Amino acid sequence: MIKFEVENSSGTIENIEVPEGINLSLMEVLKGSDYPILATCGGMALCATCRIEVISGAENLPDPQDDELDILDTLPDASPQTRLSCQLKIGTNLNGMKFKLLES
Ligand code: FES
Repeated sequence: MIKFEVENSSGTIENIEVPEGINLSLMEVLKGSDYPILATCGGMALCATCRIEVISGAENLPDPQDDELDILDTLPDASPQTRLSCQLKIGTNLNGMKFKLLES
């Protein structure tokens, strides 16, 4: 199992467990776990409503690609820790990471 922590906008932290080998993005797993992520573009890196903040483990993630960087550049509140969860594939590299949901 792949395990990571998610803090919602109220500060509540939950442990999420996902089986290895599933072909889903972090956005899809968070939506499936009933977090209020709009993801209006369906994971195309266009809407930024799936954005999250990486609290720890950022070094485990691949660098953002151009389409993700383009949309992050348009966000006034983006920090270097801000990522689009639709662009992060579920994998063992997420083990032990901590994420915080940002308001859509
Ligand atoms: S779902 Fe739209 S940018 Fe991620």
